[in-house]
Amino acid sequence: MKAIIPVAGVGTRLRPHTFSHPKVLLNVAGKPIIGHIMDKLISAGIDEAIVIVGYLGNMVEDWLRKNYSIKLTFVTQAEMLGLAHAIWMCKPYVNPDEPVFIILGDTIFDVDLQPVLQSTISTLGVHEVVDPRRFGVAVTKNGRIVKLIEKPDQPISNLAIVGLYFLSNAGSLFSSIDHIIDNEIRTKGEYQLTDALQLMIEHNEPFTTFPVVGWYDCGKPETLLSTNETLLQNNPVTKAYPGCIINDPVFIAENASIENAIIGPNATIGEHAVITDAIIKDSIIGNSAKVSSIMIDNSIIGNSASISGSPQQINIGDCSEIRLR
Ligand code: UTP
Repeated sequence: MKAIIPVAGVGTRLRPHTFSHPKVLLNVAGKPIIGHIMDKLISAGIDEAIVIVGYLGNMVEDWLRKNYSIKLTFVTQAEMLGLAHAIWMCKPYVNPDEPVFIILGDTIFDVDLQPVLQSTISTLGVHEVVDPRRFGVAVTKNGRIVKLIEKPDQPISNLAIVGLYFLSNAGSLFSSIDHIIDNEIRTKGEYQLTDALQLMIEHNEPFTTFPVVGWYDCGKPETLLSTNETLLQNNPVTKAYPGCIINDPVFIAENASIENAIIGPNATIGEHAVITDAIIKDSIIGNSAKVSSIMIDNSIIGNSASISGSPQQINIGDCSEIRLR
């Protein structure tokens, strides 16, 4: 089955890191966000992916082509007109009679997809949230979705749609998106996938939900760090680092250099990073970053950035150079 993966967005909430890298290539627990997603999809039987790229799209394409051998098609969305528009761009590559699975490229999940991909009716992944105002939400009755609303102002349901969509018939999805684009139906300025799906419901297409218990948001620095912590669980380090203390769980790239340091818990250390005389916990250190004579906590250090000095909480982008005294 084909998966459609939209990753065209700019990732503004993860700046400065997304100035130089697309969001989906940011490292969490030892591999890029999209790597976690691809591995899950492939193990569930997805054998083809259509990836919608835009901002820094060449970097996404290069990385995926280098690391995966399934059939990959890249479609460019030049203007961010919304998720429905992104999906609509895939129309020439999808047979209208076949089912399709859509997953947002920044949604790491832990759910058994096998029953979802075998469903005979369309089904959307949902997760109960306390504040649903920044999500599309599903209102259900007797196991069926009766209404979908994008970013509701009033609390109508706390079942947030979290970025996993199984459509049993791609043709009816594309007809619905055609309708909202032809009739300029936008919510908050964008052609919303939620609105296209709501139109399908109004045309009596049956929809159910499936629970996504393990749902790990990567959209903001604090959620990237909490996802790093969750995914690192049960990731003990086997290599010895003489003169260092390793507090599991951590991920340390094989070729990173660690000297006189305390690493972890919940630290990811990227490829070729050089750590000297430092204490690092609850943090992500980028590839080829240099960290010395410092204690850091709850921090994200970009690739090739360099930091030394007194203890701080920081969020610095690629190639920055900071000396704190
Ligand atoms: P988001 O709006 O959460 O991601 O879209 P973003 O735009 O990258 O991040 P911010 O809001 O600027 O921080 C969810 C997913 O849908 C894709 C995004 O790339 C992301 O993977 N998307 C969204 C598109 O591909 N095209 C669109 O027009 C909108």
